[in-house]
Amino acid sequence: MISDSIAKISREAAADGAVLLKNENNTLPIINERVAVFGRYQIDYLKSGSGSGGSVNTENCMTPLEAFEAEPGIEVDREIAAMYRELIKKRPIRIHNAFLSDFKDLELEIENAAVKAAAARTDKAIVIIGRRLGEGFDNVPKPGGYYLSKNELRLIRQVSRYYKKFAVLLNCGNILDMSWVNKYKVPAVMYIWHGGGEGGKASADLISGKVAPSGRLSDTIAVSLKDYPSTDGFFKKKSVVYKEGIYTGYRHFETNASDKVLYPFGYGLSYTSFDISCTGYNINKNIISLYFNVRNTGNCSGKEVVELYINKPDTALDHPLRELAAFRKTRLINPGESESIDISFNIKDTASYDEERSAWIIESGKYIVYAGKNVRDAKEVLSFEVQKEKQLSKKLPPAALQSFTNKHYNEDFPTAVKNDHIKEFIAELTDNELCALVHGEGMNSRRVTSGTAAAFGGITRRLSKKGIPAACASDGPSGIRMDSGEKASLIPCGVCLACTWDIPLIEQLYAEEGKEVALNKIDMLLGPGMNLHRSPLCGRNFEYFSEDPYLTGTMAAAAVRGLMEHGIVGVIKHFAANNREKNRFDADSVIPERALHEIYLKSFEIAVKSSPVKAIMTSYNLVNGLHAASNPKLTTDILRAEWGFSGMVMTDWWAKCNSRGARSSRMKLAEMINAQNDIYMVVPNGMAGVWQDNLKKSLKNGKLTRAALERSAYNILSTIAQLRCMDK
Ligand code: GAL
Repeated sequence: MISDSIAKISREAAADGAVLLKNENNTLPIINERVAVFGRYQIDYLKSGSGSGGSVNTENCMTPLEAFEAEPGIEVDREIAAMYRELIKKRPIRIHNAFLSDFKDLELEIENAAVKAAAARTDKAIVIIGRRLGEGFDNVPKPGGYYLSKNELRLIRQVSRYYKKFAVLLNCGNILDMSWVNKYKVPAVMYIWHGGGEGGKASADLISGKVAPSGRLSDTIAVSLKDYPSTDGFFKKKSVVYKEGIYTGYRHFETNASDKVLYPFGYGLSYTSFDISCTGYNINKNIISLYFNVRNTGNCSGKEVVELYINKPDTALDHPLRELAAFRKTRLINPGESESIDISFNIKDTASYDEERSAWIIESGKYIVYAGKNVRDAKEVLSFEVQKEKQLSKKLPPAALQSFTNKHYNEDFPTAVKNDHIKEFIAELTDNELCALVHGEGMNSRRVTSGTAAAFGGITRRLSKKGIPAACASDGPSGIRMDSGEKASLIPCGVCLACTWDIPLIEQLYAEEGKEVALNKIDMLLGPGMNLHRSPLCGRNFEYFSEDPYLTGTMAAAAVRGLMEHGIVGVIKHFAANNREKNRFDADSVIPERALHEIYLKSFEIAVKSSPVKAIMTSYNLVNGLHAASNPKLTTDILRAEWGFSGMVMTDWWAKCNSRGARSSRMKLAEMINAQNDIYMVVPNGMAGVWQDNLKKSLKNGKLTRAALERSAYNILSTIAQLRCMDK
């Protein structure tokens, strides 16, 4: 079922996430002019990337071409439109199992004469280039992949030959090679991303000037693929070594390779211009507050983003030249008007991780704060001294941690009556019932909404008879996936939302999403996806947010808060370091300690600490030799002991587990429980009570205790107790 109030805000987010990179001679917007639209994706518009994050059944979605044709101020050339409609009939894109597996040249070839004739009839041209990647499919460094294909380049060359004013729109979820912009002197370029079901209309809002672009890049666009530190070694099958450490994205480029940047992190143009002035600041203990006045100095309404970066003293540790510390987007400002905004951050949140001491520290020395439109333009607005180094945390030595986790379980729960009730309830369950409880079943369990990813909790007759409801979890970050064919809304993909830099907007969008999820009697939405864009090649970048952990974490937190407004639990994923799709079930992400804490776990930490995260999905890959699904350091020491998370952790679907140095297996669920990854997703429907994994054997030989099972049962049931299925 579709809730009718989500379309409007979805369209607004799709427009506000578009990033205008170039716009010479006012090529855009197109107002009361004739335009020819080239490229197949004007019709075959890619609403999302592929895989679980894009498998939403939509209906009545306008294509960009239809939306342009419906736009009064845009006169679309009918001949070219008819030509493309004809060509696409003859050469449709045959999308196999929702994955575009090969990277053959899908763009359609057209005659020079057609372009030349169109140029005589019209004022401007638009070229839409599309690229769809997704789960299981990283981009490849060849034409039709990261590089534009032969036909795409040929089309851009043809249009540039006959048009002075034309814009290239990129309908994709990954950053692509952009060397063609200067090579063919393309006057206007805009990333319109995968805008979801309303993306076609949003692109017309942008092209017609109804909405001025206000998106800002959430990733650095480098001169070439080899300039990204992650490219070297990206394709190694078994393990990916994060040798760049913390120097990923703009942390690398602004510090070590500023000449290798085509478009910097946080960059984006509008149809208007703004003046940002810092009008004051205040330092109150650890809270740094800065005040700005943002004035619209152009001639149309628009929104601006003020970004705050910090430069830290290299006293104990080395640091990137800039780190994003805070940001704020204005509301719509009319020409000549201005808006005052204040932005603050806690210096503790910019602490660094000292591997020697296994602790977070705030170093002594001079800190400088920069503010501006992007990481490159930001100007110094404040500097302050920290007299004495502060050590913020002391990692509990493993023994203490272990006692913490046992203590956490064995001691009486100093919490509400409800939880004691759960503890007593668990004590009554048999070992077999406990073993059943730590499995989810799916996909398409008949116990919950049809076509969804999993049912868990009361999924055996005995557990159900004891009053445990069957809870429902469904994909994905951009809308409800129901393989029954049931329709749902498809909202813009993660990277588009991140490029809005608009936290309140994303929270509102996910509140609307939460309403639709509740309407469909679903309790958990398997999203947001929030792994970092370590490489522009990762197939799932479309459903993730950014190269930066702060932008990522704050976006994910906004989504979780929004969903929770309707009692829906957003399952943040994939914890942790799923930054590549190749060999995703078995590849080992080998990450230095400091980068693990400061970069790849930081986004999850921000979400857990700043929003009501009640459920987390671990990733398929290994992290430093242990599968994330059976990694006590991740799901007990850090997630629970250090961050204080008390909800439920699930595996990814059919994930593998292992213990140090042992073979990976989907049956090693004792290792999963011992790590406090509470529930295995999924076993075939009806099999939770009889699944032949190693739980019962491990109970017998002592490799697993009942206490550990009860601990996970407690995490699962105390979470289910907060879900809407309890109303059943
Ligand atoms: C996996 C995917 C997860 C989740 C799951 C359920 O393949 O990695 O993000 O969507 O499927 O469908």
